[in-house]
Amino acid sequence: MNMQDIPVKELIQAALDARKKAYTPYSNFQVGAAVLTNELRIYTGCNIENAAYSPGICAERNAIYKAVSEGCRKIKAIAVVGDKCGDVITQYAYPCGVCRQVIREFSNPHEMMIVVAKNVDEYQIYTLDQLLPESFGPEHLN
Ligand code: THU
Repeated sequence: MNMQDIPVKELIQAALDARKKAYTPYSNFQVGAAVLTNELRIYTGCNIENAAYSPGICAERNAIYKAVSEGCRKIKAIAVVGDKCGDVITQYAYPCGVCRQVIREFSNPHEMMIVVAKNVDEYQIYTLDQLLPESFGPEHLN
């Protein structure tokens, strides 16, 4: 799938909607993510924190694990939006290192597109290769 074929604005809007569900009483940093699977389904996730801190989960992994738990094994693109509480997003929020590795597990790193956005008109697109170069993945264990 080429970049032109990815429904970028739809993914960003789905991530923005998902961010509204974020549970972040400790950081007040709200993240939303929307993942496009090979079947062209969209799954969304938000970050969910916990009083014991370490059980918290990032929005990206939440979205990816929802897709995987519904039977999807490959993803093509993910949109991520994040900022402190509030409707206006003024910065690009990039996936953390752990989420990049989880994206790696379920994608082709040369083709996987990561969209970081402030809104549906302001965004940047990277391949996973750009954000996680020389990565380790499932095929290395074959
Ligand atoms: N967070 C995400 O949801 N995704 C990321 O890639 C980076 C961080 C969340 C985790 C935590 O709830 C809050 O943002 C502050 O780190």
